[in-house]
Amino acid sequence: MTARQKIFWLRLATLIGLCLPAVELAWRWYTGGLEPRPVTAATHATGDWAVIFLMLSLAMTPARALFDWMPLIHIRRRIGVAAACYAGAHFLIYVLDQKWNLIVVATEIAKRFYLTIGFVALLALVALAVTSTDGWQKRLRRNWKRLHWLIYPAAFIAIIHFFIQSKVKIGEPAFTAGLFTWLMLWRVMPAKLRTRYTGLAVLAISATLAAVLFETAWYGLVNGIDPARVLMANLTIDFDIGLRPAHKVLIASLLVMLLVAIRRLSLAANKLWTRRYMQSTIPAP
Ligand code: HEM
Repeated sequence: MTARQKIFWLRLATLIGLCLPAVELAWRWYTGGLEPRPVTAATHATGDWAVIFLMLSLAMTPARALFDWMPLIHIRRRIGVAAACYAGAHFLIYVLDQKWNLIVVATEIAKRFYLTIGFVALLALVALAVTSTDGWQKRLRRNWKRLHWLIYPAAFIAIIHFFIQSKVKIGEPAFTAGLFTWLMLWRVMPAKLRTRYTGLAVLAISATLAAVLFETAWYGLVNGIDPARVLMANLTIDFDIGLRPAHKVLIASLLVMLLVAIRRLSLAANKLWTRRYMQSTIPAP
């Protein structure tokens, strides 16, 4: 397969993957699979997918460097735009929940802190999606990079919004915050370390500790739970309760290391096989 064909199929598969959650959600809504509260269920699902695609779009740059696979850069923009679309749908479903009363919507957004920051994140995501085209990139020149740097604070406040609305069940936002820490630390760590196993090990430990810290701090500050209890829960694995967010972050980080190792081994094997094949088929001069 030529490089062009590879990019074509990758783009097509990405497009299908990005649309599938929306199609599945619409189908479940239509067939009554979201009962008894379809609007609430749809608000939650679209919010979740917006965050998932936001994190995935941020993961494309490290993935390209770690897996040494250039085509990934061609889908980064698409995933970012999808995150904005799901966040837009999330907002529209919220407006629908308020019976399209825009005065109530505006008042609620102004009154409730978690909605205010959600709205700010949404504005940033929409601005980035609209200006993500080649035309805008040329028009804005150097300012395009500056503007698109907004993705980091936007993702940060989207995670805070996620935390606040989750109230006491902060497992998913704490896991997301751990992954976000991994993605941000990768960007600020020395370039040499970024693709080394030592660097990945440092990232795994830091992101895991960050998830412990977020969980402990949130439960301590918001719910008044003794931090020692949360720390103890992180040091033991109780299969009845399930894994803590930090355990999941550690597993995800180790999985990245394993995938990188597999990719490097396969590249090395491919190189060796090509060299042997050349030696056996082309006679020496
Ligand atoms: C004006 C903008 C926004 C509004 C009005 C809004 C509103 C809401 C509401 C009402 C909920 C459910 C709260 C509950 O059930 O108690 C929610 C949850 C959520 N929102 Fe937003 N949101 C906005 C922006 C965003 C953005 C930009 C993102 C992500 C990029 C996002 C991600 C989420 C997530 C992940 C959840 C939790 C879903 C779950 O618990 O499964 N929201 N939002």
